[in-house]
Amino acid sequence: MKIAVLSRAPQAYSTQRLRSAALQRGHNVKVLNTLRFAIDLTADAPDLHYRGRQLSDYDAILPRIGNSITYFGTAVVRQFEQMDVYTPNTANGISSARDKLRANQILSRHNIAMPPTAFVRNRADVRPAIERVGGAPVVIKLLEGTQGIGVILAPQVKVAEAIIETLHSTKQNVLIQKFIAESRGRDIRALVVGDRVVAAMRRSAAGDEFRSNVHRGGSVAAVTLDPVYEQTAVRAAQIMGLRVAGVDMLEGEDGPLVMEVNSSPGLQGIEQATGLDVAGAIVDYIANQVNFPEIDVRQRLSVSTGYGVAELVIHAGAEQVGKQLGDLGLWDRDITVLTLHRGVTVIPNPRKHVLLQDEDRLLCFGKLDEMRSMIPERRRRRAKVRRLPKEFLAD
Ligand SMILES: Nc1ncnc2c1ncn2[C@@H]1O[C@H](COP(=O)(O)OP(=O)(O)O)[C@@H](O)[C@H]1O
Ligand SMILES: [Mg+2]
Repeated sequence: MKIAVLSRAPQAYSTQRLRSAALQRGHNVKVLNTLRFAIDLTADAPDLHYRGRQLSDYDAILPRIGNSITYFGTAVVRQFEQMDVYTPNTANGISSARDKLRANQILSRHNIAMPPTAFVRNRADVRPAIERVGGAPVVIKLLEGTQGIGVILAPQVKVAEAIIETLHSTKQNVLIQKFIAESRGRDIRALVVGDRVVAAMRRSAAGDEFRSNVHRGGSVAAVTLDPVYEQTAVRAAQIMGLRVAGVDMLEGEDGPLVMEVNSSPGLQGIEQATGLDVAGAIVDYIANQVNFPEIDVRQRLSVSTGYGVAELVIHAGAEQVGKQLGDLGLWDRDITVLTLHRGVTVIPNPRKHVLLQDEDRLLCFGKLDEMRSMIPERRRRRAKVRRLPKEFLAD
């Protein structure tokens, strides 16, 4: 295949390793400076220029987009997507992962455990938010920090309030997060490629530092992951739309707590800690996927007027529970079921004989009018009038 590594650091360890892994496997590989692309929207079909000349054909790209150029970098990746060039990490995935709040919001919908987190703006809401996540000591994070910069441990509520107020006054958005003391300055970095963890390490902070980032002096050691950690890492990467990702997890009392999903994980620490050829695994994965470019489903499926994507929920106790999927009459109404979500599992292309259970969610494509009539009324989170506890009720 012909692959481009998008990077502004051709000499960096990770770029060099990816390049040599690709060469070693007989691929044609170029390292292209992300900032030297020009997005061309004048032609009939989406196109790109590089260093002033029309870009030649590529089968795949591997984006390594630095934090400082997220906007332009993801625009370039999105253009490659429009040109049907395969990328393991989509523009959407990269920008969602980069923003710690956005990542948290997306992951929390899918039952991925994370440290309790709050996001507020008004001064009056700061203290209650700190209390809600468990009080001091509390962790304060800049939304788009990396390498441990912008992650602060505040020992007391008053100090936390002062820090947050200062950051707010300089127009910086911050997350308030429970300090997971039991992780004791250590965390797990799992390198996910496709649907498996290809390498994992434990990072330990230096001295009395609580941040275990290698850039903050943290040390690394290979680790064999518990299957729960492996599954969590793979699911987190998948949910974020990233096929190459470094998933950071704290070792909480009840299991893994995902802190962040990195879309351009560094390879030096993990290759040195584990002795594994991570770059090679990434290149091999991409070579296998080249014929299946990522497609923005919504973008593609919403272009026929009147058709679109919707989720139908089988609420607990609904009449459909226990019936076969085929008995709902969806296909007769021109509705196709793409996936069935059941708890944390997903059944792609569900068969018509699948028996429906409480809270199954069907991702459907079809006539919006037909689907609209099938979507039950939105349920309120809480009944307006709460029922009295049993002991208050007369016999
Ligand atoms: N809630 C927390 N409790 C305990 N330690 C934390 C917490 N959040 C972050 N850390 C430590 O700080 C490090 C950096 O935090 P992280 O959110 O990954 O930011 P960055 O993007 O800068 O790496 C983590 O690797 C971990 O060691
Ligand atoms: Mg991190």
